[in-house]
Amino acid sequence: MTNRFYITTPIYYVNAEPHLGHAYSTVVADVLTRFHRLAGYETYFLTGTDEHGDKVVAAAEKAGQTPKEYADRISGMFRDLWPRLNITNDHFIRTTDDYHIKAVKHVLNRVNEKGDIYFSEYEGLYCFGCERFYTERELVDGRCPDHLTEPKVIKESNYFFRMSNYQQWLIDHINKHPDFIRPTRYRNEVLSFLKEPLEDLCISRPKTRLTWGVTLPFDQNFVTYVWFDALLNYVSALGYPEGEKYEKFWHYAQHIIAKDILKPHGIYWPCMLKSAGIEPYQQLNVHGYWNIAEGKMSKSLGNVVRPLDLVDVYGLDAFRYFLMREMSFGLDSEFSEKALVDRINADLANDLGNLVSRSITMVLKYFNGGQPEAVSLSEKDKILKDQTLRLVDNYEIYMKGLEFHKALVGVWEVINHVNKYIDSMAPWVLAKSDPERLKTVISNIVDCLKIVSCLVWPFMPQSAESIQDQLGLAGRGEDFTIDQLRDWGAIRPIKPMIKAPSLFPRIDTKKPVAKIEKEKEKKAEKIEIPLVSFEDFQKLDLRVGVIKSAEAIAGAKKLLKLTVNMGEERTVVAGIAGHYLPQELIGRQVVVVANLAPAKLMGVESHGMILAAGDVSGLHIIAPDSPAAPGSKVK
Ligand code: MSP
Repeated sequence: MTNRFYITTPIYYVNAEPHLGHAYSTVVADVLTRFHRLAGYETYFLTGTDEHGDKVVAAAEKAGQTPKEYADRISGMFRDLWPRLNITNDHFIRTTDDYHIKAVKHVLNRVNEKGDIYFSEYEGLYCFGCERFYTERELVDGRCPDHLTEPKVIKESNYFFRMSNYQQWLIDHINKHPDFIRPTRYRNEVLSFLKEPLEDLCISRPKTRLTWGVTLPFDQNFVTYVWFDALLNYVSALGYPEGEKYEKFWHYAQHIIAKDILKPHGIYWPCMLKSAGIEPYQQLNVHGYWNIAEGKMSKSLGNVVRPLDLVDVYGLDAFRYFLMREMSFGLDSEFSEKALVDRINADLANDLGNLVSRSITMVLKYFNGGQPEAVSLSEKDKILKDQTLRLVDNYEIYMKGLEFHKALVGVWEVINHVNKYIDSMAPWVLAKSDPERLKTVISNIVDCLKIVSCLVWPFMPQSAESIQDQLGLAGRGEDFTIDQLRDWGAIRPIKPMIKAPSLFPRIDTKKPVAKIEKEKEKKAEKIEIPLVSFEDFQKLDLRVGVIKSAEAIAGAKKLLKLTVNMGEERTVVAGIAGHYLPQELIGRQVVVVANLAPAKLMGVESHGMILAAGDVSGLHIIAPDSPAAPGSKVK
């Protein structure tokens, strides 16, 4: 039977723009989806927006728009954000979609026919922020624990869902299925709520108070919204009640949420499903909160972190990696730009980026870009191979257990092992002394790198695919499976390897990092571009060159002495030492200003200048997008 995997994020309210917290849940769902694809599962990934209710009406009024216009705009911001974070959701649901509204009405009828809905007068303490009634017991010092505001006493007649009918069933279900809610702390929290008698759930609002909701199929004067509307998105998106996708995927449902909405998902939702005669979801996966400097992120505090601001400055994969590596799923984490920069420089630029760059350089240098065959494995080779294969097993266990940071720690143990293996095997010495041994060493390095590239793919798809391209593999990303990785050396390159620009440029930490964004803005403001005539431009002779050798210049921190083949060989001095290691430049194509008057720099005469782009993250060498003959003119 095909293994299937259905994952959902919360559908986000449209009363605020997307922030780091929304991005985290959605990246988690994407990482899990990609992992399951690697593990051979057929997957379906759902996200979307929750658009009904008082809060949206209030936000729309403030913006001078109708609720629909307002919801269209903010929902669009979420929808547009996800591709920019490389999120591969299969569907984006909106609670204002017709098929969703139809499904909500269908379930309300079913639950009503079952006798689980009744009409009653209710007087209670209502929190407008949470859009729900509170019991005295739930309040902290008479205030809502989330909004810290005093709830208002509201008296009105409404429809109620007999949640209490399902309390014992739910306790039994959770006890029989220990993984139903995870991590365990949240399961325990739900079980402890369930120790007290469950109150029935108010599911309607009179239209005199709110019209922006789904009209009850059995009473036109009332709407439902919030949970009886929103939670049903998880089945309506699959085409419930009769959709083919519903048949195929609902049985495998996994929800991702943060702890703020544990109660609706851990209690209301299973009771609603049971009443409607729908099988319960498989698992509820609950994560903690991203906080900023010991506090909650909130629009009113003005400390909202916008995902794209970070992505623009630090790169998408660095952002995704940071989120997944820094937070232990289930616990809270504190976000800081400094922690992000530290991880980029240490884990990505130093460890992974450097490994990829030096490995490919050696394959190009010693084997012309082809992976050599290993001859025979020494004790140290076997230790490396065994650790890497063990990683594949552990990685799968950690990923299934939502222990993403541990999965990544495991991958980095292997990365660091390979880096040390290179240092201790010193292939540059073997190249002269033992060419047979060199083959085995390089082959082992390449085999480890293939596995690393596949295992980091769910987290950093672009970078992983770039590594796979550089390795000359036949596929990328989900073309591989975890099982294939267990067959050491089975994945072979089908093309010569190639060198790409550095994957993760080091971030200059001398600049106060929190100011990077501001500095970028300042720079952008200042740019004035003096015009140059076409005749003047034509005076420049730009040529493609290939770097043959690179070395540091004694006493010069920023300069490297390069030998560049541009049809003829030239010495060019370049100020790129802080950004590139000499060995990673070998074989790289560059663009050289060929007719620059020679100049002496730190005692070395330079005959040209190589072009590079500079931004806050450092320098990036400019090169043709596919190899061009050395000496070709840049036009
Ligand atoms: N619309 C409801 C959910 C209905 S689901 C049927 C809702 N929306 S929300 O916009 O408030 O999103 C809440 C979710 O956003 C959290 O459960 C979590 O997934 C994510 N996060 C919002 N802020 C967060 C943090 N500061 N940290 C981590 N995730 C948080 O509730």
